[in-house]
Amino acid sequence: MENRRLFLFKGFMWVLAGLAAAVAVLRFALGLGVSTALSDTTPWGLWIGFDVMGGVALAAGGFVMAAVVHVFHQERYHAAARPAILTAFLGYGAVAVGLLFDLGLPWNIWHPIIFWNPRSPLFEVAWCVMLYLTVLALEIAPVILVKTPFQKLHGLLSRLALPIMILGIMLSTLHQSSLGSLLLIMPFRVHPLWYSHLLPELFFVSAICLGLSMVMLESSVTSWLYKREPEMEMLSGLARLASFALAFYFLFKMVDLAIQHKLGLIFDGSWPSSLFIIEMLLSAVIPAVLFAIPAVRRSSKALWFLAACSVGGFVLDRINASGLSQVWATRNFYFPAWTEFAISLGIVSACVLVFLFIEEHFPVDPHALEQTEAERKKQESALPAFAPFAQVWLGEGWRKSARVYSFLFVLAMAFGLTVAPKTEPVLQMPAKRAVGADILRMGPGPRYVYFDHKKHQDEAGGDKSCCICHHLHQKGDVGTPCVVCHQKMFLPTNIFNHEAHVAALNGKASCALCHGEAEPVKVAPLAKKCSECHEKDFMAQNPAVKVFDSKWAPSYKDAMHKMCIPCHEEKAKDPKVNQPNLGRCGACHDSGTATEKAYLAKFPDSSKPGGVK
Ligand code: HEC
Ligand code: HEC
Ligand code: HEC
Ligand code: HEC
Ligand code: HEC
Ligand code: HEC
Repeated sequence: MENRRLFLFKGFMWVLAGLAAAVAVLRFALGLGVSTALSDTTPWGLWIGFDVMGGVALAAGGFVMAAVVHVFHQERYHAAARPAILTAFLGYGAVAVGLLFDLGLPWNIWHPIIFWNPRSPLFEVAWCVMLYLTVLALEIAPVILVKTPFQKLHGLLSRLALPIMILGIMLSTLHQSSLGSLLLIMPFRVHPLWYSHLLPELFFVSAICLGLSMVMLESSVTSWLYKREPEMEMLSGLARLASFALAFYFLFKMVDLAIQHKLGLIFDGSWPSSLFIIEMLLSAVIPAVLFAIPAVRRSSKALWFLAACSVGGFVLDRINASGLSQVWATRNFYFPAWTEFAISLGIVSACVLVFLFIEEHFPVDPHALEQTEAERKKQESALPAFAPFAQVWLGEGWRKSARVYSFLFVLAMAFGLTVAPKTEPVLQMPAKRAVGADILRMGPGPRYVYFDHKKHQDEAGGDKSCCICHHLHQKGDVGTPCVVCHQKMFLPTNIFNHEAHVAALNGKASCALCHGEAEPVKVAPLAKKCSECHEKDFMAQNPAVKVFDSKWAPSYKDAMHKMCIPCHEEKAKDPKVNQPNLGRCGACHDSGTATEKAYLAKFPDSSKPGGVK
């Protein structure tokens, strides 16, 4: 391998991709509960903060360079425009993939196309991502098509390049700002230092700054990888532009804070304030000042370092706004699980690999293509790749690296699969038996609903009320806890035991009892109904749930909701009860009700899992 640096770098990317592939299997097989550290209070984690928010911002280079080159006609930046647009395309692709990981029901991702909810900021976000990804694909297509037989299509797309470019600039302007709007609806969650009515505008301006830094970083890194001379003239030009943009962003942010009388918050010494200072220094202040100095602009190392600093600062900004700045409101610190890091890094590495592949094989950056092409030719002609005696291909050059890369990928994936956490999927989570004195505490772990059994009993008519809720019992019992049959939190449970029935009903002779004498085939739907035998011993008299035909006891959640909510909704309308909110989720799921407080006073440990036996 000629270029060892590139070889090692790509190998490392393949390792990361392999690890991510293993975690991906885990995430889609076992769910978010197993593969992330997310919770109901922190439903947005690294995947939203970095992959989606950060990913979109990192892709900003595409529209910024398109505007600089094709709208403002700054032709000297031409060489940077195509790689930037390619990055944007891959960045947006990464965002879409990141979303698939983060969505609870990823197969519903197409819903915004059909089910319109124009009042939701997410609706705008979804449409912008879809349209802009399409436009970016059209922008980048000519580069690929030029090497294929579809020359007519290539010609057509090349002629439409300008209108497509302008459409792309419009869409991404909309989209960068709509990610800010997404946060506008959380005034009580986002920390005041980040919350502002101008969030959409701030996001847009910061995207422009980040776009410029990202283009510089990318150009520096590819020159380093391919051992080319950095394009200093272009880089220092971009740095000058960036210093203006960054200074503007900084002023904009400060004036915005001043108008809201929030400047004092920056220096109040709290954790968010330190975070804010670090973010501003990294993203704007340090790069803006240093980029303005001509001597700095002439040093390729300094430019590389400052661009990285600014990119890091802006990614931190997105992570702060969508995550860290909400900790003060949720009072729950979330730290991503290693599996989350693996996915994020894996997506980035996959993008880098695709980027390098396209750059090496298609005319994205003509210099790069020439160089790699020449290198490949040299390799191919130099190698006796075929061993005539052994009749095997020794394989050198790309064959060898392909073998090494695929080995690394598989190795990393196997390693990932071995170490990945393999707890039960959340769906199978067992429900816990309600415990407590008069008041019952239901559900597993930290989830519980306070349910005053005595009060409900009295309310529903005392001793005769039981069957309203206790529709089935075990033999010889009254008030069998629901969890005996409704065993899992989110999945139904089969409570029928075929073997035990055959044994209890005299073995072979029993078949006819349930499947009928004349019945040649024994199939489930034709078997005798459960209630025909268990009417007396299992079923409560005159229960609310009148059927017992199915061996499937619904999930605990369904049993509770279907039992409790209809009565609550009805009682909510009853002026005598005078509780209009009884039917709402909060009636049961909000903590802090009077009964709960009384209960906690009596059993202080009970809100902790396993607190009461
Ligand atoms: C409003 C519905 C409702 C009514 C009315 C009701 N119960 Fe219950 N009962 C429940 C629920 C819910 C549980 C919790 C079961 C669980 O999670 O496993 C329960 C639990 C019980 C338990 C088991 C407690 C334990 O942990 O072992 C007994 C015994 C019981 N009820 C008896 C009765 C009797 C007797 C009556 C009638 C006087 C009655 N219940 C009326 C809903 C009700
Ligand atoms: C002995 C087992 C058993 C016990 C105990 C039990 N259930 Fe059920 N439950 C079932 C079965 C089986 C079904 C399904 C009946 C059918 O659809 O044929 C069912 C159905 C239900 C349904 C109807 C769901 C629907 O889809 O309409 C509700 C509501 C319900 N149970 C609530 C409760 C509550 C509340 C308790 C405790 C107070 C309880 N069950 C105790 C076995 C049980
Ligand atoms: C207590 C009633 C009962 C008795 C006794 C009984 N079965 Fe069943 N059988 C059922 C029910 C209910 C099902 C469906 C259960 C399921 O799918 O899990 C079933 C399912 C079956 C099936 C599978 C049908 C399918 O669609 O998959 C076969 C085969 C079968 N029984 C054969 C027998 C034979 C043979 C005997 C006698 C040794 C027997 N059963 C005794 C109730 C009974
Ligand atoms: C032909 C009559 C008959 C039918 C139909 C029948 N059972 Fe049973 N079932 C029995 C007998 C008999 C026993 C054993 C009772 C005992 O242990 O005293 C039993 C026991 C049970 C038990 C407790 C024993 C255990 O551990 O499994 C459950 C639960 C049960 N049946 C559920 C069902 C369900 C669900 C259906 C419908 C799919 C059903 N049965 C249909 C006769 C029947
Ligand atoms: C038969 C009707 C009925 C059923 C069934 C019922 N409830 Fe209630 N529930 C009421 C009424 C009426 C009240 C208001 C009682 C009061 O505060 O005087 C109430 C109050 C409550 C409260 C207190 C709400 C508050 O804001 O203080 C909780 C919690 C609750 N129910 C939970 C449940 C759960 C859980 C179930 C199902 C296991 C259930 N209820 C089933 C009628 C019902
Ligand atoms: C009448 C009381 C009541 C009402 C009203 C109610 N729930 Fe529940 N819910 C329960 C009970 C009881 C459980 C059992 C699990 C538990 O103890 O947490 C439950 C469980 C759940 C669960 C699964 C357990 C968890 O914490 O993840 C979800 C999700 C849920 N409810 C959502 C809702 C939503 C959304 C609403 C409003 C549309 C609602 N509930 C209204 C009583 C209620």
